[in-house]
Amino acid sequence: MDGNSADAGDYRAQVGSRFRNPPSLGRLPRPRTPNEAEDEDQRNWNLHNIILSDCCRRLSWPLSGGAASLARLMSTQADSFVVAIDGPAGAGKSTAARGLARRLGYTFLDSGALYRAGAWAARRRDIAWSDGRALGQLTYNLDIRFDNRDGASHIVVDGEDVSEEIRRPEISEGASQVSAFAEVRAGLLALQRRIGASGRVVAEGRDMGTVVFPDARAKFFLTAPIEERARRRTLELAASGRPQNFDVVLAEMQLRDQRDSTRAIAPLRRAENAIEIDTADLSPDEVVARMATIVRERGG
Ligand code: DC
Repeated sequence: MDGNSADAGDYRAQVGSRFRNPPSLGRLPRPRTPNEAEDEDQRNWNLHNIILSDCCRRLSWPLSGGAASLARLMSTQADSFVVAIDGPAGAGKSTAARGLARRLGYTFLDSGALYRAGAWAARRRDIAWSDGRALGQLTYNLDIRFDNRDGASHIVVDGEDVSEEIRRPEISEGASQVSAFAEVRAGLLALQRRIGASGRVVAEGRDMGTVVFPDARAKFFLTAPIEERARRRTLELAASGRPQNFDVVLAEMQLRDQRDSTRAIAPLRRAENAIEIDTADLSPDEVVARMATIVRERGG
């Protein structure tokens, strides 16, 4: 959505059209049937309404007209410039997004860390990763902060630095499970949008360009063949002292790809106007350079 929505109807049409025209996802699962696409649009629209109503309530705005005004407000922050980067696990998003944010002097938003934080906090409180209602309440009220110090970005939940803990393989699995619930996504979405509205942001995740920041000024979809992604993840795990067998990593990645891209709410999908970059044969610096050129061309 490059322009500003005149009303909520336009907003719906524009969000809907993106979901109706999914581009190719390489090796990811089959395209949706028209019925599935309709259902998904409806669920995504419901999710938008939950979020917009919630924001209106928090701002004490009457809902009539409020949703449209809020959608407009969110898309027209004068000095905000969001770069949205999406793609499957292991495509090099984090490295590229961090590198791009550093190069441009932008804030880095790691949205996956929020879902990981939710899964971590649920485990801490003995809330099952299958209990959508309880998870929704938890994430809605969770005290999550990003703390940039010592040249690294730390994530602090309830005052505890969980940056390391949330990278554990079981939390990856939990994050994938909890992120499938609309309640959890609604609980974390307002927070992500507040960060996006705060200035110049590189936001990385699965639905940055499709749902969270449909108005992002530049959108990228990073991908690579799954064997390459699993190979990278295996190396990363070994480097961080948690070695795992390649076949296990590959199988877990296939499962997460499947779940992330077929879930009913905000599935992993390339935004219609996102630029796809296959990172298999590119160095992280080359990926960052490509994206930086495009961002600069667009005035970022
Ligand atoms: O990017 P990551 O591996 O840290 O993400 C962890 C999980 O969170 C992943 O399985 C999908 C989910 N996620 C999501 O649903 N939406 C996002 N914007 C980011 C991550």
